Formats: sequence, C-alpha cells, structure tokens
Amino acid sequence: MRAIRIVTALFTAILMPLTSYAQKIVIAHRGASGYLPEHTLEAKSMAYAQGAHYIEQDLVMTSDDELIVLHDVTLDRTTDVDEKFPDRARDDGRYYAIDFTLAEIRTLNANEAFRIENGIKVKEFDNRFPIGMSDFRVPTFQEEIEMIQGLNTSTGRDVGIYPEIKQPAFHRQEGKEISTRVVEVLKEYGYTGKDSKVFLQTFDYDELVLIQEEIFPSVGIEVNLIMLLGNRTDYPWIFESDGMSKLANSADGIGPSYNLVVDRESEMLATRITDLVARAHDAGLAVHPYTFRADPGAIPTYALDFENLLDIHYFRADVDGVFTDFPDRAVQFLQSK
Ligand code: G3P
Ligand code: CA
Repeated sequence: MRAIRIVTALFTAILMPLTSYAQKIVIAHRGASGYLPEHTLEAKSMAYAQGAHYIEQDLVMTSDDELIVLHDVTLDRTTDVDEKFPDRARDDGRYYAIDFTLAEIRTLNANEAFRIENGIKVKEFDNRFPIGMSDFRVPTFQEEIEMIQGLNTSTGRDVGIYPEIKQPAFHRQEGKEISTRVVEVLKEYGYTGKDSKVFLQTFDYDELVLIQEEIFPSVGIEVNLIMLLGNRTDYPWIFESDGMSKLANSADGIGPSYNLVVDRESEMLATRITDLVARAHDAGLAVHPYTFRADPGAIPTYALDFENLLDIHYFRADVDGVFTDFPDRAVQFLQSK
C-alpha cells in the first residue's frame, strides 16, 4: 500500500506543472486600481484586503529627492496639479514631479486617471471611480511600505512589495540616482535578500545590469530583479534562442505584456501561446505578465471573459503570476482551482 502511495506521489509530482496553483501569485497593479484611484494608499489597502500576494509601486523622484508612488514622471494624468500650480508646467505643457517638492505634491488631490477632451477631464476607464470624489493623496514609497508592513503585523500575513523604477535615464539626466535611493530604502525596511518579499522591476536593461553589478554590492543587498518587456523590438536579442539564458545572468524573472505570452490575434478555442514562458522557465526565470483588466472592452476576443483570460494565462501558458487591476477576481479565481 505504501509503495502504491509513493508511486502515485511520484507520478503526481512529474505531471504537475512547473508551478502549482498554490504557488501562483496575484500582483495588485497600482493597487486595486479597478476600484479606487491608482497608487493611492486606499487602493493599496483594498488590494491587501482582497488577498493580493504582492502590491505594486511605480516610483519617481521629487525635486527634494523623495521617492513618491506615481506611474508617470508627470503629475498631469492623475492629479489636479494643473489647478493648484497652473504656472509650473514645462515648455511641453507637462507638470513634472521632479520640479515639485514633496510638500507641494502633498497638497495635490490624486484622482482616477483621466485625459482632457475639449477642456474636460474624461476618465480613462468609464466605469471606474469618479473624478474629484472624496480625498486622495500621492503617497511616498516609505509610507506605502509602512502601511503594508503594518498590515502584515496586524493580520499575520506576509504580503510583498513590487516596486518599479520609472525612467531611470530621465532621472539621471535630471541629476537623480533613483535606483540607488530605491535600493537604499529597500535595505532600510529589511528587504535585503532573494528570500525577501520583494521583486524590483524595470523596463531598462542597462539599469538592471547596473543595479545587479554595482548598486546591489555598494548598498549591500541583493533582491529579486524583474526585466519588464513591453514588445519584441526594444531588446530583440532577448527573444533570440539564447536570449533568456543571457538575461538570466542579471534577472530572476520577466514581466512581459501578456500579448507576448498569448498572440493577441488568437481566435477563441484556437489560442496561440508563444514559446516565451517555456523559454523563460528553461532559463530559470519567473514570468509575471501585465496587465489583466476586467473593464468593459478590455478582454481580448480570444477569451470568453476575465476568468477565462486568467485561466489561459495561469494554467495553459503556465505563468507564475499576473499583474491585475482587479486582484479580488484573480485571488478568487485561484482559490476556485
Ligand atoms: O510593471 C508592470 C506593469 O505595471 C508595467 O506597465 O506601464 O503599468 O507600469 P505600467
Ligand atoms: Ca509598473
């Protein structure tokens, strides 16, 4: 009987995918941003309560060298900076966070993302939180880490952080070493090793190498690094046969657009899964694609609905985690498996 159980267990282990459902993760993209304005502490606490395993922070710097949690290097798309500081735009008409002190940024209202149409602010996603309702702020990186770590204490959970260094070349051109400051803050808050609950991400390969080879040794930590991939053209060598193994010298995983995992032009019941995940896994890299949205019109035509889209990626393409604006839906989906 014992021999049968051992053989059964061995077969189960062999037949299991690289990561089982219990190991797959949900990353709250800019928080529970499907429900509350992106990158506000309110959106982050909602994501936490919804069961996300990791919560994302996009990071940019202020004029006084503070790290704030903001997706764009400009404040235009998600705050009322145009109303509070109308004469502070650059010649291109944009309001750059790096031209403002933290004290100034603290006076701004953070909003649901919008664009201007005929002088009117129109939400990027119709169904999302109303613009101008309630009262939200742009948080610092430290404030957000403290909230997540505080919740880890009060709930007994261990939710991780997933910071992205935004436009490091732009920051360097403006005289700011953003990556060094981010890595210093990680160390200050105890994220020091590969076993720490953090993935540090960037779209900039040169910066990734700099972090790995110079910044980590000089600050004295080494955490997991994720190379973001928006398309096949920025770094074509990564998509060549030995690209993933070369990338694995500097990265622990990739964060591709999910259109690089499943061909966007696939037809329903004839989904074309690319070889990206298999090649990344062969090189020992984790795969966390972005961004899974349940808004009307956001589901590719090859998927029946949001849950089917998750199923195709988590279990047919075998990704290790997903970035989503709707962490509750992804957590419930994994729990149902
Ligand atoms: O960092 C993963 C994903 O967030 C990348 O896209 O533009 O939302 O930062 P973006
Ligand atoms: Ca990001």
